[in-house]
Amino acid sequence: CGIVGYVGREEAAPILLDGLSKLEYRGYDSAGVAVYGAREGMQVSKAKGRLQVLNDLIRGGETVHGTIGVGHTRWATHGAPSDVNSHPQVSENGRFAVVHNGIIENYAELREFLQSIGVQFVSQTDTEVVAQLLEYYYDGDLLMAVTRTLHAIRGAYALGILCADCPDRLIAARKDSPLILGFGDGAHYLASDVTALIKYTREVCWLEDGEIAELTADHLWVYDAYLRPVEKERHHVDWEISAAEKGGYEHFMIKEIMEQPEAIRKTISPRIRNGEVVLDDLKLSARDLEEMDRLYIIACGSSYHVGMAAKYVMEKLLRKPVEVTLASEFRYCEPIVTPNTLALVISQSGETIDTLAAMREARRLGARVISIVNVVGSTIARESDGVLYTWAGPEIAVATTKAYSTQLAVVYLIALYAARLLGTITAQEYDAILAELQRVPDKLEQILNHKEDIQYFATLYFNRHSMFFIGRNLDYAVGLEGSLKLKEISYIHSEAYAAGELKHGTISLIEPGTLVVALAGYTPLFEKTVSNAVEVKSRGADVLGLTTQAMATALKGTADHVIAIPETHPILLPSLEVVPMQLFAYYTALQRGCDIDKPRNLAKSVTVE
Ligand code: G6P
Repeated sequence: CGIVGYVGREEAAPILLDGLSKLEYRGYDSAGVAVYGAREGMQVSKAKGRLQVLNDLIRGGETVHGTIGVGHTRWATHGAPSDVNSHPQVSENGRFAVVHNGIIENYAELREFLQSIGVQFVSQTDTEVVAQLLEYYYDGDLLMAVTRTLHAIRGAYALGILCADCPDRLIAARKDSPLILGFGDGAHYLASDVTALIKYTREVCWLEDGEIAELTADHLWVYDAYLRPVEKERHHVDWEISAAEKGGYEHFMIKEIMEQPEAIRKTISPRIRNGEVVLDDLKLSARDLEEMDRLYIIACGSSYHVGMAAKYVMEKLLRKPVEVTLASEFRYCEPIVTPNTLALVISQSGETIDTLAAMREARRLGARVISIVNVVGSTIARESDGVLYTWAGPEIAVATTKAYSTQLAVVYLIALYAARLLGTITAQEYDAILAELQRVPDKLEQILNHKEDIQYFATLYFNRHSMFFIGRNLDYAVGLEGSLKLKEISYIHSEAYAAGELKHGTISLIEPGTLVVALAGYTPLFEKTVSNAVEVKSRGADVLGLTTQAMATALKGTADHVIAIPETHPILLPSLEVVPMQLFAYYTALQRGCDIDKPRNLAKSVTVE
């Protein structure tokens, strides 16, 4: 979910709607705003569906008046998407309006208590409990009601609170869900994410866990859980506004696919000096690496797939055990962590709650934690011992592309850097990989210049019911991401398999008309993968092959069509291979008329467990 808040001298509703439009990627089941007007009082408008539905309902904000308000865009957890379950949630007498991102874990018992004393609930949400509790504790002192409420609730939250009795101030509070405050000219803002604010201000501060903020047009105070004042440091954000706009492209996804060469350049070039990878931010010494008994890579979704590629790369170059774990599993699998264990956390948003929780667990168990994060100042970044930012800029499309590519680029930098410190790489190999890594952006441009070829393949196969992605080693890692991209946005059932594993079960699903994407770029295993492609071909599958230009002719003997990518060092292949896979998913979804930037049921940043 995403929340925004504004207090100032302008009409609040249009600002809230605009902010929500930048946060819609965080959830789009429903949206709502609460605005307080001197004459109108508290006005709450909310609607199931996309933000546009709300926008139409209040005519872009024209029907709602006042210079203070909060807004919300929802990804449903408790209670199905509906008008009544949308936020803001309001207390029984309408005094408090609350927007919330997160989950209140003890909401059932609190609700039961409030009901036992006669409070009437109208929604199924956990958030309504917050609004009703505020009313329960309120005796004329807003901040006291807030702290009492926060002491009563358990779970994760970023809250924006508007109280009809104090119509000049907003209250913000956070625990385990992101919340950022913005300083404007005679105005203050709150938002889940900086993208909602950059149009209005670049001066921000991050609220920390347990902190409460009080915002008026002219002042901003931050307190700890006991209402002691806290001094906050202001930060300047220098993301370009254009990064959060489509700039002529039909979808954010294709815009972000096209931005990849530049994003990778920005990510790698400041970290390469005189033919050497320089990663001071990592704060890792040769001794740390020598003593490292194991590397855990922890992530979710596509970031986890970067981790899968990283395992092959790191084990090959570092000769140390690397384990890739889904963040949601790591916490509960009794991981074997010693003081010599290193955890590498990968996250675009830096706010995924599963990843954050796993990272905290790794630390608690004694691991040193480094992270690869895109969003500057996000919680994961701030809590890591060392952070390497991907300089991809804001990523808006729910299906990640440039974040994946830049994360992977950072993985190569870390692998080279660590291998050199450990002495597990020859100077020749180091130079060869580093030189090729710097050529990746140009090679991606070559691939992107021929994107219509991939669009053509999508027109051939977009109506298939089922697709498989097979490959070995690094090709398998890319297949995982190719398959996820496709199913996320085109809703075609698809699975990725290690090519050699297919015959141990899944091959029974292959029938005439099934499409198998055979990733055979990794030259050392080319022939093995081709054999597996032959196996599916002889059972009636259509095969779309992916390999390097040098091997394309050899693959044409088996595959119906072949996507050929430029040559590179085999270890870097995922960086090139993933882009045709992204394009294939994009054009397939386009053919099928899907809502590409906002696929059903998904959210880009999942801040609930
Ligand atoms: C969500 C998104 C995925 C993303 C995952 C991890 O589920 O839909 O695309 O890969 O979160 O996000 P992160 O921000 O931690 O990389």
